Amino acid sequence: MLTDTYGRTATDLRVSLTDRCNLRCTYCMPEEGLQWLPKPELLTDDEIVRLVRIAVTRLGVREVRFTGGEPLLRPGLTGIVERCAALEPRPRISLTTNGIGLERTAPALRAAGLDRVNVSLDTLRPAVFKAMTRRDRHHDVLRGLAAARAAGLAPVKVNAVLMPGVNDDEAPELLAWAVEEGYELRFIEQMPLDAQHGWTRDGMVTAGDILASLRTRFSLTPEGEEERGSAPAERWVVDGGPARVGVIASVTRPFCRACDRTRLTADGQVRTCLFAREESDLRGALRSGGGDADDDAVAQLWRTAMWGKKAGSGIDDPSFLQPQRPMSAIGG
Ligand code: GTP
Ligand code: 5AD
Ligand code: SF4
Repeated sequence: MLTDTYGRTATDLRVSLTDRCNLRCTYCMPEEGLQWLPKPELLTDDEIVRLVRIAVTRLGVREVRFTGGEPLLRPGLTGIVERCAALEPRPRISLTTNGIGLERTAPALRAAGLDRVNVSLDTLRPAVFKAMTRRDRHHDVLRGLAAARAAGLAPVKVNAVLMPGVNDDEAPELLAWAVEEGYELRFIEQMPLDAQHGWTRDGMVTAGDILASLRTRFSLTPEGEEERGSAPAERWVVDGGPARVGVIASVTRPFCRACDRTRLTADGQVRTCLFAREESDLRGALRSGGGDADDDAVAQLWRTAMWGKKAGSGIDDPSFLQPQRPMSAIGG
């Protein structure tokens, strides 16, 4: 088990498959991109599957989510999913993607064992999409979403970040669309994880702002704490149901007390938290001794890392410092 000193157990593993992305969301990275990880530093497909196997068979992980950067850019994704789905006990497998390329890949991913998918989409307006992502790919995302739904990936969730003066007037419109399409929409508060270090508390749209905006058009009833479990999203029943809307309020309504997550970066470092300042080098352990480090030793390193997990993100501490790695290199 991956337990920490605050009594939490990590059963949910988030694996970043690449730090690269084909969009350039303004709240995430600059136009020119970032200094990408060199290929030899990336975990190989075999190494990823081995680490997932160790997590699932020895450490009690039950859910594996593949993230990026943009995970659909990883050539071996379908094979990785297939091999993870063959593990005993079989973990639930999910993907967080910007949706570009999903139109083509959704059926094969589903067949390989992918259970569900979360797609990022911040706006319904193509021009706003282009301004926010610096790429003209709005249609690809909409088609990717429809393909995921058609392939039987369920539920399909949509993640939206609102930016003041850019798309913060769109919350009700986005929700009406998501309800109509059968997608579960979640709004995410912007976190201090951008590569440019441009985040400010005053420059973000809060959960309070989002709920007030939604309530101009919908009646929202809170879902119980029990149903939430350890999920980052707090959910509301929309107009009596069955639709739900979620808000992931990492800044104004943090949820660290129930955190059940452990993270693996694309270069094989364990992170106990999105905001952790330390990492543990599992890749080094895998590659030492001719690649034959035993699974026990790797599992023990992972347990030790998690034992050092902090109580929370520390965003509210006066001494808060953004982690070295931006969101795109951690995996969200
Ligand atoms: P499910 O609820 O299982 O569908 O997934 P999720 O919402 O945890 O995953 P997703 O990858 O869609 O993440 C949505 C947003 O939640 C992203 O902005 C993540 O960075 C954020 N998020 C996920 N886990 C955590 C966490 O442990 N802490 C914080 N602060 N944010 C998180
Ligand atoms: N704060 C909050 N959410 C972010 N995302 C990317 N960067 C940030 C940030 N700084 C979102 C993406 C995607 C999800 C995985 O995280 O838009 O929907
Ligand atoms: Fe868990 Fe860290 Fe996220 Fe809090 S900020 S919920 S501790 S990963």
